[in-house]
Amino acid sequence: MTALLSADDVSVAYRDGARWLQAVDRVSFALPPKARLAIMGESGSGKTTLALAIADLLPHDGIRRSGAVRWPALGGAARPGRDVGFVFQDPMSSLNPVLSVGEQIAEVAVTHLGLSWPAALDRAAELLDRVGLPRPRDRLTSFPHELSGGQRQRVALAMAITAEPKLLIADEPTSALDTLTQAQIVHLLDRLATEIGLALVLVTHDLALAANLAGTGMLMYAGRVAELGPIETMVSAPRHPYLQALVAASLDPDRPPTDRLAEIPGIPPQPGAAIPGCAFEPRCPRARSACRSRPPGWAGTPADGVDCIQFDQLAAVHR
Ligand SMILES: Nc1ncnc2c1ncn2[C@@H]1O[C@H](COP(=O)(O)OP(=O)(O)OP(=O)(O)O)[C@@H](O)[C@H]1O
Ligand SMILES: [Mg+2]
Repeated sequence: MTALLSADDVSVAYRDGARWLQAVDRVSFALPPKARLAIMGESGSGKTTLALAIADLLPHDGIRRSGAVRWPALGGAARPGRDVGFVFQDPMSSLNPVLSVGEQIAEVAVTHLGLSWPAALDRAAELLDRVGLPRPRDRLTSFPHELSGGQRQRVALAMAITAEPKLLIADEPTSALDTLTQAQIVHLLDRLATEIGLALVLVTHDLALAANLAGTGMLMYAGRVAELGPIETMVSAPRHPYLQALVAASLDPDRPPTDRLAEIPGIPPQPGAAIPGCAFEPRCPRARSACRSRPPGWAGTPADGVDCIQFDQLAAVHR
């Protein structure tokens, strides 16, 4: 099937004075139309940067230094602001605090759908209804600060789908919410994606949420893809030692309930540090001397594999 999105060897760095800090390092994947990808990884691993690069929304100090993002099913390129809806990690930064909810959504509808202002306001009310806000007409005149966190996230979702995108990127859409509201937003995302036929890229710390919502998982470590593949296999038979440690830690019965990724011993490398071998090597229980001296190669297919030189040996041990 023609991919909706294809990222080939995408690297992103942020300018830090005279040097560059590599945040995303040669990431490749493809996403078919209507498919769902969960990007996981600990804080600072490059999830948001990758998501912004896909949507062409990198901040001014972030530069795509190599690679390409293509949209084969859209004829090559995505229309800016139109084909990709984005729900930002910080719920308040998706919304403008000085505009009413109705004005914000209507503006998108005017810009991208060419509607008149009254028609755009009607469309805004329809969308608010669609994302489950009660009394949507009355809500048009509300300001973001008058809404609860869950309601704001619903509005952010309504705005992200206003221009009828083909892909919705949601960057940790539930992490600022209480457990019940989280479940409602997850259900809403699932329903919207199915009803509208959206592809979904979900950035999350939560393995269980990823497994519930997505078909494909991508685990990032220090800007690289550590493992990519069907999410069910990633959770039930993790291959990369990092994923094995995460899955083992998240299954620990003594672990308190949390929406964060399970913690494993050690810390990730400093951004910008020169790493001759594997970035995970200092924390890896299976590290060998070769892991320190040469970078891992991708073991597997472009859609299903592991960034670990020992993968073949590990697979043999686990059989
Ligand atoms: N605008 C920026 N300028 C400079 N460095 C940045 C900028 N944004 C992110 N970084 C750095 O890039 C790296 C990746 O950050 P990114 O926000 O993509 O990680 P993340 O996986 O989304 O983390 P989190 O789970 O905390 O949201 C980090 O080292 C971060 O400090
Ligand atoms: Mg982030």
